Amino acid sequence: MRHLLSIADLTRGDIERITAVAESFAEVAERDIKKVPTLRGRTIVNLFYESSTRTSSSFELAAKRLSADVVNIKSDGSSVDKGESLKDTIATLSAYDPAAIVIRAPWAGAASFVARYSSASVVNAGDGKHEHPSQALLDVFTLKRRLRADSLDGVNIWIVGDVLHSRVARSNVLAFTRMGADVTVCGPPTLIPQDAASLGCRIAYDLDSIREADVIYALRMQNERMDNTLVPSLREYVSRYQIDGRRLEPRQLLMHPGPVNRGVELAAEVIDSPQSLIVDQVASGLVVRMAILYELLSAGTGGNVRIAPPTPTEKQPA
Ligand code: CP
Repeated sequence: MRHLLSIADLTRGDIERITAVAESFAEVAERDIKKVPTLRGRTIVNLFYESSTRTSSSFELAAKRLSADVVNIKSDGSSVDKGESLKDTIATLSAYDPAAIVIRAPWAGAASFVARYSSASVVNAGDGKHEHPSQALLDVFTLKRRLRADSLDGVNIWIVGDVLHSRVARSNVLAFTRMGADVTVCGPPTLIPQDAASLGCRIAYDLDSIREADVIYALRMQNERMDNTLVPSLREYVSRYQIDGRRLEPRQLLMHPGPVNRGVELAAEVIDSPQSLIVDQVASGLVVRMAILYELLSAGTGGNVRIAPPTPTEKQPA
């Protein structure tokens, strides 16, 4: 695989391979020394035109754990502030001969654009309302681990909330269904895109049947992308769609990509409940992003995963 631009490009086998490699990196993460030499001498550029905590920090740490050199650029404070175009920015950064460029941008198709103008492998870390494929892969990994299952065959997953603005929803419907899950997207009609059913999921406009779900995946209300005609009032939204202690049953699991609007899509009591996988999702982000970088930059050259133990010079002093 050369780029990770969209879950639509991946087969079930691709997803299984990446999550299996992530399991190997999860074992490495248990060691005292968590770094491996896999990408020593390679350069990875993280280019973020939108705010991020989880994706940016985990891609940075993933690259460092693989021993790559890392350059982090945020649009605020860079020459993007002075009006430099994305094309010129890529030409500039390409002068460092990066092995990979990880890009988040508010424009759908930004990652594909970069892939056309760079010889580096490109990872889509979120492009507008289009896709967030690494989030979907880490969510599949998290669920498989919690369910102790090789697949998501027959798992009933409800994705609830602002589906219209959510790149996570699009990537996750594709990834969950590829892995065999039955997926329903649920929200107010104004926040469900017209083409939602074409992704292979069911659609619901209320939570009346939410008890059938094995997993409830709540989405963030994306106020920064919201036109205020889409939801009559936040109070009404909360009363009809918020997941709270009455709506989350003890047998159900709860996921959310973060950041959470506490008291909007999720009530505080469910965020911190035993059914919540939100912290597990963050932890999975690191090892799955290591697996993605490995897949793009190393797997083709080395065959099976070989994660060398630390060399003597890398050992920490006792
Ligand atoms: N889930 C996610 O993409 O979070 P960040 O915006 O913090 O990266």
